Amino acid sequence: MKRRQFLSSSATALAAAAALSHGAARAFAQEQTPKQRLSMPPLLDTRSTGRLSLQAQSGSQTFLGGVATPTVGFNQDYLGPTVILKNGDLAADVKNGLKAPVSAHWHGLLVPGEHDGGPHLPIAPGESWQPEMHIAQDPATIWYHSHIHERTAEQVYFGLAGVIHITDGEDDARGLPSAYGVDDLTLVLQDRRFDNAGRMVYDPSMMDVMHGFAGNRLLVNGQAGATAVVPQGIVRLRLLNGSNARVYTLFFDDTRPMHLVATDGGFLPEPIALNTLTLAPGERAEVLVDMSDGKAPVLLSDPAQPYGVLPFAVDAALPARITRLPDKLDGVLEDLAGTEVETRDISLDMGMGGMMRGGGFAINGRPYDMGRIDFAVAQGTVERWRIRSTMIAHPFHVHGVRFRVLSENGAPPRPENTGWKDTVLVPGEAEIIARFDQPAGQETPYMFHCHILEHEDAGMMGQFTVT
Ligand code: C2O
Ligand code: CU
Ligand code: CU
Repeated sequence: MKRRQFLSSSATALAAAAALSHGAARAFAQEQTPKQRLSMPPLLDTRSTGRLSLQAQSGSQTFLGGVATPTVGFNQDYLGPTVILKNGDLAADVKNGLKAPVSAHWHGLLVPGEHDGGPHLPIAPGESWQPEMHIAQDPATIWYHSHIHERTAEQVYFGLAGVIHITDGEDDARGLPSAYGVDDLTLVLQDRRFDNAGRMVYDPSMMDVMHGFAGNRLLVNGQAGATAVVPQGIVRLRLLNGSNARVYTLFFDDTRPMHLVATDGGFLPEPIALNTLTLAPGERAEVLVDMSDGKAPVLLSDPAQPYGVLPFAVDAALPARITRLPDKLDGVLEDLAGTEVETRDISLDMGMGGMMRGGGFAINGRPYDMGRIDFAVAQGTVERWRIRSTMIAHPFHVHGVRFRVLSENGAPPRPENTGWKDTVLVPGEAEIIARFDQPAGQETPYMFHCHILEHEDAGMMGQFTVT
């Protein structure tokens, strides 16, 4: 991909920036006053200890001022710490301090099914789960969240999720910003619904389930209306779409480019300059943004009907460690095409049975059943999956692998989907290819599902073994 291609058309972004002068566009996310500085989740660095302790606990959070909302989180009231992992052994200990079963699924971690934390690995109230894991993968921004069947949407909504950085300590050599919360920001984007008292609510109607539950305010790291303060240089944004259902198409109000350096599964070979970046639920992207002009841009979403995501402010007193964009990165993209031994068709179904029969959420006509293994993959082999969405675009996620996107609606993938992925928005059809290296047996199979959490809980999920 030539990066120039993606710089050419900034017409939509310009139109959107113009539309902003009408004022209404900012209402969705930025009514909050006074301006608060955006904070990062606390860091939990496991690199020297090789241990990771998390505890699911209940809490409460006052998001908008006004009334407090009962919430859940890992080690805190809402969301969890940003966990730093390196390759090697990791002894995890996840305690459940709640009254309902939870799990800790490592979304994007390439570990065997027995360590994956999916629906077959619930942690009962008062119990703990202690997988002895081995991490061996490229640096990436991944995440963790609870994954109890039929409860994932609500548990993630109220806070059981957090970000993981897999790092090799080589970001200086790559010329990438890496000072957490200074020039390397972790941004969890979540839309949430608030009632008039300022309480966060989750009460999906059948229509909400059909479309996925959408909010009326945007939270970044659990905060509404905050401003990110950054140094006057190159800034790295690690974006996670941690929303239940909302797809963001991000852009800056002054049309400055975002230089994509990493996708779900790791770095690209070189940065790709983008005017807009689409991020579906479950997806991550790392972008570099040049803040050296000292101006204060606003990150917006949805060029067709823009709303504010996050305003920035430059503080020249902060250390600007990186002042030029890297030309190259060290991401290696394997070309798996042509090595597949199996091709599967996967249809993400909804609406077939009509609303009377639960919306017909299924995969290949069958709603999720914990007792049914949908298929078996031979370990170490490559498979091509042809995914088809019905009714709306569904974000498709596979556990235990990273994949490449071969095509979207018969065309080459858009730039956001050219790297390693574990979740991809399927507009109509998409083809993906992966080598299944990690094992997963009958007791703890891997999931594949729509990452609109209401769809997943309603049955748009399946499971497979790798043996
Ligand atoms: Cu992000 Cu099956 O999960
Ligand atoms: Cu996952
Ligand atoms: Cu879906």
